[in-house]
Amino acid sequence: MKGVILAGGLGTRLRPLTLVTNKHLLPIYDRPMIYYPIQCLLNAGIDEILLVTGGEHAGDFLKLLGNGKSLGIKELHYTYQEGEGGIADALSLAEDFADGGKIVVILGDNIIERNIARAAEDFSTQATGAKILLKEVADPERFGVARVEGERVVEIVEKPENPASRLAVTGIYMYDNTVFQIVRGVNPSDRGELEITDVNNAYIKRSDMTYETMAGWWTDAGTFQSLYRANQMVAEGGANHMDAAAPKAGKAASIA
Ligand code: G1P
Repeated sequence: MKGVILAGGLGTRLRPLTLVTNKHLLPIYDRPMIYYPIQCLLNAGIDEILLVTGGEHAGDFLKLLGNGKSLGIKELHYTYQEGEGGIADALSLAEDFADGGKIVVILGDNIIERNIARAAEDFSTQATGAKILLKEVADPERFGVARVEGERVVEIVEKPENPASRLAVTGIYMYDNTVFQIVRGVNPSDRGELEITDVNNAYIKRSDMTYETMAGWWTDAGTFQSLYRANQMVAEGGANHMDAAAPKAGKAASIA
């Protein structure tokens, strides 16, 4: 499977930090935020990666990551999202890269403690559809929230005022190739974006969505509070990528 990292957007919730750089280049403890989703994919054995970025500072990703080899990426591709079309719009740019296969998508501001290797492995043998990873949180109203009945997710509501559960939909999504067709059928939400939640609900409607709950901590880093929390978690919590994407003295970093 190939991996797609969505790292566009204007990061308006983090202004003024994001006035002169892209949100995903801000530091999380000892390295740029974008290293963490990269490492998450590498830890799951995914080393063909497309980075979707946008905005005025997109060129800085190239300066930082180059061809990705020093981080252990086999093939690093880049593409550019025009405007603020939302997560599903950014994802639509990955169609040629996916080349008919399954993809693992991660939002560039999502950081996890452990890894998604087993979930990705399970998904690679799932005949069709999608898989999402859920995590119980204290503030579900900030996220897409899943309503689960037994083994099934029956609905996801984006940032609900009265959440049906505490199960946040994390920004790690696994899709078969029909995702691009689904995105084409999605209409812009009230905030004018193509919502990833609408894409996920389309899979749920056709009973083709599986889920797992994530072990270990998970956080986004798109607000001051969550950015601070992400720094704390990484500094204190020992994310499993701590010894991985860290540039090592005198030698290129690698997860090997
Ligand atoms: C996005 C998704 C939301 C998901 C969250 C995870 O929200 O829309 O469903 O729970 O990422 O980080 P955003 O951070 O764009 O507000």
